[in-house]
Amino acid sequence: MPSAAPPVRRTDFPADFAWGTATASYQIEGGVAEDGRKPSIWDTFSHTPGKVKGGDHGDIACDHYHRWSEDLDLVRGLGLGAYRFSLAWPRIIPDGRGAVNARGLDFYERLVDAALARGIAPHATLYHWDLPQALQDRGGWASRETVHAFVEFAEVVARRLGDRLASLATHNEPFCAAFVGHLFGKHAPGLADRDTAMVVSHHLLLSHGLATRALRPLAPGLRLGIVNNPAPIHPASDAPEDLAAARAVDGLRNRWFHDPLFGRGYPADVLTALGSPRLATALHEGDQDTIAAPIDFLGVNYYNRHVVQHAPGEGWGNARFLRPEGEYSALGWEVYPDGLREILVRLHRDYRPAALFVAENGAAFEDAPDASGRVADEARRRYVEAHLGACRAALAEGVPLTGYFVWTLVDNFEWAEGYAARFGLVRMARPGDDRVVKASGEWYRAFLRGP
Ligand code: FCB
Repeated sequence: MPSAAPPVRRTDFPADFAWGTATASYQIEGGVAEDGRKPSIWDTFSHTPGKVKGGDHGDIACDHYHRWSEDLDLVRGLGLGAYRFSLAWPRIIPDGRGAVNARGLDFYERLVDAALARGIAPHATLYHWDLPQALQDRGGWASRETVHAFVEFAEVVARRLGDRLASLATHNEPFCAAFVGHLFGKHAPGLADRDTAMVVSHHLLLSHGLATRALRPLAPGLRLGIVNNPAPIHPASDAPEDLAAARAVDGLRNRWFHDPLFGRGYPADVLTALGSPRLATALHEGDQDTIAAPIDFLGVNYYNRHVVQHAPGEGWGNARFLRPEGEYSALGWEVYPDGLREILVRLHRDYRPAALFVAENGAAFEDAPDASGRVADEARRRYVEAHLGACRAALAEGVPLTGYFVWTLVDNFEWAEGYAARFGLVRMARPGDDRVVKASGEWYRAFLRGP
């Protein structure tokens, strides 16, 4: 962002812009054994020693399963008109397929109705990584059976809630579900196998397309889409080797997911480099058409960019990830707001989705209350403000941006980082504790009330 840009104001955005915050079921709900819920792969993974920092797990999390009404009040209290959340598949179909658990579905119906009653538009995500363990036991996303199980789950949700949701995303960040979970081994189910990860990525995308097709007639008028986490991949220099490393990383992170979703099929360079007989067998005739089923929106989660340098033998694409000079969050992620503008403009230019919204954006900082109990998280406030500036710049470049959701409402279970990584606009000292609005949350509220 040019430093001379005027301060960002609400009126810089369209009047019907969706302002919200985002959460995910396993990260906030707790109540893991209540009302018929059965384990997900994240219950198993987080209870496996050594997988999550501090041995943390989501058994209690934000206790949102009990405090959901208070949490919706918080959303409303921040002045937000939109709330993004995910539905736990193992609450709704605890064995992955078959019997529907009425109490699980009822929970989300109460949540959706209560959001609407408070004037909050509910934006739901079907899959934010909590696969029923029962399905993992039969092969998980590496098995085509899970694709069909997902469509059944999607249909159950759309039948009950499709008339009331503001939008429904099939998946959250299939890149992470596939590669962080099955190649880097850092997320559930904790595998480290390239061929499996590639097949999983295909099955996730295929399940998106099949579900999208199945849901159209079931829930006419429901806005359907998917949420990805693209990132600008910058070469460390103009040297051909660095450009090639950046293109390889970009292929897997960005083009592998967006090209097929928007009808171009899988990018040939990635297929050539990472294809396998297993992947070829998993790719059935017609799958690419299915994946390209028309969608109403593309959600974008943005946190940072990457700068890569050619480094022979250093992983995929012979790429080393550099740490350029700059500001960093508590997780060591570079603060780089202009990357959000850049990626939104690129997605618009290359794929022309009907609408885009920022489904997640935020940062972890080591904020703590002062003597008076106030959390003066100035770094988070600046982060959000700077990224809103990037959104304004994207709008000025013609991007059909329709909303912005801060990750996240309340400090929560940050996957492999446990509770130590705090992303909330609202503080929660320990799992299940009371909520305290941070200065960033107060700033967001003031911004929305202001000019
Ligand atoms: C994203 C996830 C979200 C949260 C943020 C920090 O990758 O979608 O659940 O963990 O990162």
